[in-house]
Amino acid sequence: MATLKYHGHSCWEIESDGGRVLIDPFLSGNELADVGPEAFDELDAILVTHGHGDHIGDTEIIARNTGALIVTNFEISNYFGAMGLNSHPLHIGGGREFPFGHVKLTIAHHGSSGPSGEYLGTPAGVLFTSHDGKKIYHAGDTALFLDMKLIGEMYGPLDVALLPIGDNFTMNIDDAVKAAEFLGAKVNIPMHYNTFPPIQADPSEFVKKVRDNGGGGRVLDPGETCEI
Ligand code: NI
Ligand code: MN
Repeated sequence: MATLKYHGHSCWEIESDGGRVLIDPFLSGNELADVGPEAFDELDAILVTHGHGDHIGDTEIIARNTGALIVTNFEISNYFGAMGLNSHPLHIGGGREFPFGHVKLTIAHHGSSGPSGEYLGTPAGVLFTSHDGKKIYHAGDTALFLDMKLIGEMYGPLDVALLPIGDNFTMNIDDAVKAAEFLGAKVNIPMHYNTFPPIQADPSEFVKKVRDNGGGGRVLDPGETCEI
């Protein structure tokens, strides 16, 4: 069993038999986040999908506070490694078994510049598999792409797909509904909406459209959890 908790924007906490993992911890500066970076004391890993500030977020401070391993692409891994933090580089298409679970980076169509505009490699999605086989796909920031079908086919059945719906920088609702169809996950949960003015979207509209299309979906509000 795994427990998934939403912390707003694209930040998710996964607790499973291997430990506790955080993805894209953008908390400081996000009025919709339910917690701040100080809320974390025991953490095994932080997974970072790309270099943008709303995804790197509080990675540095949380990693310093907890000693969590940062797992991300090669360039972002070097960026945090240069700060003296523990990091492990993966890259697109590559995966690795860690004590806290298996992490594989998948493609994402987006950018990945760092806080000062530095080159931080290519953006990724993350496929997390717990030791007991629960599979969570976090799409990162991305456009809709047909290879999501391949992710569902090769690595499914996925238990959960976390999909951006906010438009402007990523997929919109209709794109994300098609993504849900391609991926075939049991439950599709929206993210990356309403944090900033350009990404306003109605998450219940996403869930309705996913259900009308024969899929499963639900909304988690910041602070809410669901069991997988
Ligand atoms: Ni981004
Ligand atoms: Mn973003």
